[in-house]
Amino acid sequence: MEKIVINGGNRLHGTVKISGAKNAAVAIIPAVVLSDGICRLENIPDIQDVNLIARILEQMGARVTKPEKDVLEIDPRGIREPVATYDLVRHMRASSYLLGALLGKFSRAEVALPGGCDFGVRPVDQHLKGFGILGAKHSVEGGMIKVKADKLVGGHVYLDVVSVGATVNIMLAAAKAEGRTTIENAAKEPHIVDLANFLNSMGADVRGAGTDVIKVNGVKRLGGTTYSIIPDQIEAGTYMAAVASAGGDVMITNVIPKHLESITAKLREMGVIIEEYDEAVRVIRNNRLRRCNVKTMPHPGFPTDMQPQIAAILTMADGTSIVNEAVWDNRFRYVEELCRMGAEISVDGKLAVIEGIDQLKGAPVKATDLRAGAAMIVAALGASGTTEIEDIRHIERGYENVVEKFKGIGADIKRVYTNDPVIQTA
Ligand code: EPZ
Repeated sequence: MEKIVINGGNRLHGTVKISGAKNAAVAIIPAVVLSDGICRLENIPDIQDVNLIARILEQMGARVTKPEKDVLEIDPRGIREPVATYDLVRHMRASSYLLGALLGKFSRAEVALPGGCDFGVRPVDQHLKGFGILGAKHSVEGGMIKVKADKLVGGHVYLDVVSVGATVNIMLAAAKAEGRTTIENAAKEPHIVDLANFLNSMGADVRGAGTDVIKVNGVKRLGGTTYSIIPDQIEAGTYMAAVASAGGDVMITNVIPKHLESITAKLREMGVIIEEYDEAVRVIRNNRLRRCNVKTMPHPGFPTDMQPQIAAILTMADGTSIVNEAVWDNRFRYVEELCRMGAEISVDGKLAVIEGIDQLKGAPVKATDLRAGAAMIVAALGASGTTEIEDIRHIERGYENVVEKFKGIGADIKRVYTNDPVIQTA
């Protein structure tokens, strides 16, 4: 079993380069299915979630090559059967994005529903509502979602919930539908805009991405393209939080500062100095952190995917902070791990009340999901003593070269292979 071991207390310094955005890649790779040509995708991070979704396409018949480290070339023309079975998708949370792409291309799709998620249920009712308005019927049989339409015809979708996945899936299903599709109450995340730009580079006609009304005029054919995806705002935010936790002075490069605005504003509120450049931010923290309140919201609000990381640093801020997780129902599982490090946090439903203490103390902890694992690293870097983080597979799903990147800015961090017997507890 692998662990990450961190000896906390080192101030961080130097430069770290951010990789391509995981949540853009896992939406854009399925979108390649819509193309009648070869797509070359650049700035693709080498992480498990991305490699998995590419492997799923390959197992369905696409030709996928990796001519360079962060480049994927995909020819989807070999896909004959729009079916992604459980053994393909069971490790993928984002497998639902295949539904929209396969439906948009073949007017039918069958995708296995992955198991429960790390933090509560991942409903798809809004996805299915959108598909229905475009003329598709759906059923759930044997753990597979099946959608089918005689012909996809554009329609007016008003999302009940601002959903990134539903917005992605409806855009994909609408790209080649007949006529116009309007998506109201659409998600505005940077990766929604990136997906729209990618689709348009293939010849689609998507307008308004980044606002809450997206219009898709269906086209008959989408061709091959070359496209470089955006940098990862959450990876960047995680490194910003790490500097806030450990202290120091770090230049974070290959970022789009505008995508980080809500994170920057919150860290500045806590007393962190942040200088913005064209494609970089410099993060400096020397004094003690101030308390603050955080409420997660759809973009441009504070991102839920940064909630565990910001909570980790609030445990060592002066005063009492309140974190309100307004997007997901159950995203505080990491709190008990932070409490093992001495944090004083009480959780009541969607609220976590954090009493700041002087400093966390290292302890053995677990990564309960991707961003919770990132929060353990952030906490460990600011803690005194040694922290051992288990279940790091969660972290490596979404953070490229995480140990090497942190080592590069002065962290005392290493990956350790242990053969601890897994003791089954009742
Ligand atoms: C995407 O998940 C991201 N994943 C998540 O990031 C992120 O937390 C989330 O968007 C919110 O930003 C990917 O992009 C692969 P949603 P998604 O649909 O699309 C409810 C990470 O750490 N909802 O925007 O699944 C849902 O229950 C991951 O990188 C419905 O009720 O999220 C949730 O409360 C974790 N019905 C809220 O909407 C639906 O049909 C937002 O979910 C769909 C969603």
